[in-house]
Amino acid sequence: MSSAIPGRPLGSSPPSGPEAALAALAPRLPSPLTEVADERFARRGVRLLLKRDDLIHPDLVGNKWRKLVPNLRAALRDGRDTLLTFGGAYSNHLRATAAAGRLLGLSTIGVVRGEELADRPLNDSLSRCVADGMRLHFVARAEYRRRNDPAWVDRLHDLFGPFLLVPEGGSNAAAVRGAAELGRELRGAADVAAVACGTGGTLAGLAAGLAEGQYAVGFSVLRGGFLTGEVERLQHDAFGRRRGSWTVEDRFHCGGFARTTPDLEAFARDFADRHGLPELDRTYVAKALYGLTTLVGEGAFPPGTTVAAVVTG
Ligand SMILES: Cc1ncc(COP(=O)(O)O)c(C=O)c1O
Repeated sequence: MSSAIPGRPLGSSPPSGPEAALAALAPRLPSPLTEVADERFARRGVRLLLKRDDLIHPDLVGNKWRKLVPNLRAALRDGRDTLLTFGGAYSNHLRATAAAGRLLGLSTIGVVRGEELADRPLNDSLSRCVADGMRLHFVARAEYRRRNDPAWVDRLHDLFGPFLLVPEGGSNAAAVRGAAELGRELRGAADVAAVACGTGGTLAGLAAGLAEGQYAVGFSVLRGGFLTGEVERLQHDAFGRRRGSWTVEDRFHCGGFARTTPDLEAFARDFADRHGLPELDRTYVAKALYGLTTLVGEGAFPPGTTVAAVVTG
């Protein structure tokens, strides 16, 4: 019997405590891996597989499961009852943290960038956080920039008492080690793994989990070209050194975070139609698939290559 929870040894006794609580969420793991026929890839002799992390769990979708579960496990194991984390008004990570709190009986606090939002009606994303029991704390952008400053975090402790802090985007060392399971699931199945990058935590883990001879390419959804350094830093924090073989592509941010272009829109609609997928997440998944399809068209991969594209949300 295989373990439903990453990191739990096969053949061990039935889960109890945190493991039982997490197993009760019935994640679909390993996530499905399916081959799709796409003539843009076939023309270049490249096979395309979709790694459907979007099907792992309806509330803890994709890389959220991979990255949050190690932090949730630590909170449950250490008897912490409150998680605090950070995000913008449309943050997938805030939504997933709020849902995890509801599912596991943990209190959650979301520190939201933008003091002015406190006086406006909540958007759908933040409304869902509140419906899941998350307490929202709106802060000015200048203050938000201090989110990694211990003195500022102490002030949050004064306000809210004890909590387990999960960084913006959920990318800490535990999250990166959790995302390595994604790479391990792809061993022997593909030559190249493609994934969208925001903080770079998923790429850092994915690349570390792949076998020798496989490599990962990350598609940055942000302008600025700083992600290579971030992924290296995250790998150092998680594993003490750079791990695996990976690169970051900076050409496909389509104007920057949460920006889109008519080309990206047309591509995303067409890709979902061709392959019978639900609407693609525009912020991350569509940009990665767009970038990957462009690279294949440019002949970036030799004929005979198998590429697994991770549908992270
Ligand atoms: C759907 C989706 N894909 C990819 C990413 C990027 O993950 P990371 O921040 O680990 O690079 C995110 C980030 O939140 C996301 O929500």
